[in-house]
Amino acid sequence: MHIGILGAGQLGRMMAISGIPLGMRFTMYDRGADVPGAAVADIVTGAFDDLQRLRRFAQRVDLVTFDWENVPVASARAVAAIAPVRPSPRALAAGQDRVAEKRLFTRLGIPVAPWRPVEDRGDLARAIAALGVPGILKTRRLGYDGKGQARVRRATDADRAWQLVRGQPLVYERFVNFSREVSLVGARDRAGRTMFYPLAENLHVDGILAMTRAPCADARLQRGAESHLGRLMAALAYTGVLCVEFFVERGRLVANEMAPRVHNSGHWTIEGAETSQFENHLRAIAGLPLGSTRARGHSVMVNLIGRMPPRRSIAALPGVHLHDYGKSPRPGRKLGHLTYVGASRTVRDRLAIRLLRLAGAGTRSFRPMC
Ligand SMILES: Nc1ncnc2c1ncn2[C@@H]1O[C@H](COP(=O)(O)OP(=O)(O)O)[C@@H](O)[C@H]1O
Ligand SMILES: [Mg+2]
Repeated sequence: MHIGILGAGQLGRMMAISGIPLGMRFTMYDRGADVPGAAVADIVTGAFDDLQRLRRFAQRVDLVTFDWENVPVASARAVAAIAPVRPSPRALAAGQDRVAEKRLFTRLGIPVAPWRPVEDRGDLARAIAALGVPGILKTRRLGYDGKGQARVRRATDADRAWQLVRGQPLVYERFVNFSREVSLVGARDRAGRTMFYPLAENLHVDGILAMTRAPCADARLQRGAESHLGRLMAALAYTGVLCVEFFVERGRLVANEMAPRVHNSGHWTIEGAETSQFENHLRAIAGLPLGSTRARGHSVMVNLIGRMPPRRSIAALPGVHLHDYGKSPRPGRKLGHLTYVGASRTVRDRLAIRLLRLAGAGTRSFRPMC
């Protein structure tokens, strides 16, 4: 089976790495040829709104998926007229606008933090008056790794926040005083059967994921998150892997955002689960039965951001795996990740601290997980 992927970043690359042993081959579409996917797939270059090139790309493959959630919906629809697109363009659209996403969550009974849409400076003043501070002003579209966000700690921060992100539709959200952040990755096959990974706990530093540990052994949170994700998948008639990020506030799940694709907080599943999120995504879209999502042990995944530690120091740590995305270093850029699967939480946490240090990520916010 020949799979086309819109986007050829590290997610597409890891998808191909897991699909090649299944007998699949890959062609990816991206703006340039110097992309992480180039090591494992043919690359077609073009703009994401060049419908003619996109159609030609679609003609070459059996099936199309995406590794980037901001593929224009019109482009996904044009591709879908030629080859099946899974997840569907409708599911893709659902995650592109923070306001639409929050409305969908609310309609499905999934709690979200109090929020208000913001179009102009007056809206922001009214939102702050209604919801209070602290809060976060976010762009409705195209935000990632904490980009397109401005914190409002007190009411007098409003002007500065407005200047930082103005000029596009925004949303003001109350700041959630969370005890932890967790995420659930699940897969839904073409017949509507679902499988969920164990809940993972995420540590973000400056809005960007620094570390994920799994499983988070909290049966009540697991059940709650599965019920939310299951309803979301059913509502979207979803096929593939879907992730929802949650805050845990006073023991209660508050949904932050969804990603209609494989997710950074699911990278631990490559070594840490019986079937990785990448393989399960491919199985789902290709019409194969899903694989077991059981954890093999206690996993940690640490992102390598901005700079790669010396390969030699990584290789010297028994049991630690390096995933190098083949990207050139740039501050704030995700260049790779490290994983370790331990026999116990204690052993895993000991390694987690070493990996955070190796990644230069600081260990100040480190604490035992749920
Ligand atoms: N309303 C909020 N309350 C508390 N923390 C938040 C809130 N919104 C975002 N954050 C913090 O910023 C991180 C990134 O924000 P998120 O909305 O997930 O954007 P991105 O699309 O960049 O991942 C979150 O994981 C969390 O740590
Ligand atoms: Mg996020």
